[in-house]
Amino acid sequence: MPEQASNFAFELDLFYFFLVALTAFFTVAIGAAAVYFLIKYRRRSQGEIPEQIEGDMRLELTWTIIPFLISMFIFAWGAKLYYQMYTDPKDALEIFITGKQWMWRAQHPDGQREINELHVPLGRRVKLTMTSEDVIHSYYIPAFRTKTDVVPGRYTSSWFTATKTGTFHLFCAEYCGTQHSGMIGKVVVMDYPDYQAWLRGVPRDKTPAEAGEQLFTSLACNNCHVETNTGRGPALQNLFGTDVKLDNGSIVKMDEAYIRESILRPGSKLVAGYSNDMPTFQGLVTEEQVAMIIAYIKSIGPKPSESTAGARPAAAQPIGQPVGQTASQPAAKPATAQSIGQTAKPAPQGGQPKQN
Ligand code: CUA
Repeated sequence: MPEQASNFAFELDLFYFFLVALTAFFTVAIGAAAVYFLIKYRRRSQGEIPEQIEGDMRLELTWTIIPFLISMFIFAWGAKLYYQMYTDPKDALEIFITGKQWMWRAQHPDGQREINELHVPLGRRVKLTMTSEDVIHSYYIPAFRTKTDVVPGRYTSSWFTATKTGTFHLFCAEYCGTQHSGMIGKVVVMDYPDYQAWLRGVPRDKTPAEAGEQLFTSLACNNCHVETNTGRGPALQNLFGTDVKLDNGSIVKMDEAYIRESILRPGSKLVAGYSNDMPTFQGLVTEEQVAMIIAYIKSIGPKPSESTAGARPAAAQPIGQPVGQTASQPAAKPATAQSIGQTAKPAPQGGQPKQN
């Protein structure tokens, strides 16, 4: 077994061990019973006719109820683990991952980029939002026991809390072409001060939201999506995460998938009151650029403070702050949005200034 270095590792290993032990137990028990019966009930003479047995209700009930309970236990435990692993965590540090033949690119909320490496802070929930530029890859960190397919044309995500500092393997776990086996990297878990120092040491690129804003201008999106809502397209301010009414009367939630679809296939879900004027940007923007534009639209979306009555805006939470550091703080004051990965819900924070 690889090292256990995330919040999921121990329980997942326990579950796996349970399945192996259970399988081994029944394999041995059934094998032994088969051999025992083979010998005990062997034919002893030519023409021997065995005694007819009509059945036994107690036996039938036993071998129905016990396997039923065992399989329901496996189902319940597995479902609980699955639910934990695939439910988006609160207050996570969101890192954007792009798979590409044959490398892994990562972009941090403050704009730091890295290739085939991922630096994460110890003890902080980290959410990876992932997509692919070409074929299906799979982001696999054995020590964290997390493996998630990275699929072109959609966003997948996975999350973990690293529980051990050190360097761990990163693999592509989906055959993706000749260099698949070379599509590897390392995940470096650092304690919080080291992580902050690392963040400062990496030449800071634009944040995804800043890069997205620039794209929004350079692709001339702002010609139609004007803030005063007088353009040919709807204004995008304060829209992210809200429900949007379409021209066919249905309602759609403005989320990452909807924005992406609207950039690549503008006519497919038209907002009520607007005509199908927008050209497609399919082939003109990469998945990373789409993600940046989404980050920008998120950043001009509703602020958490606006969705909480009587709340005061407070300073942004420093990126990568350990969970334990904020847990003791009162959760009454919401934090303002981080540049990426913010939710509409108020986040508990300690009021420290943002450190970059
Ligand atoms: Cu990417 Cu295999």
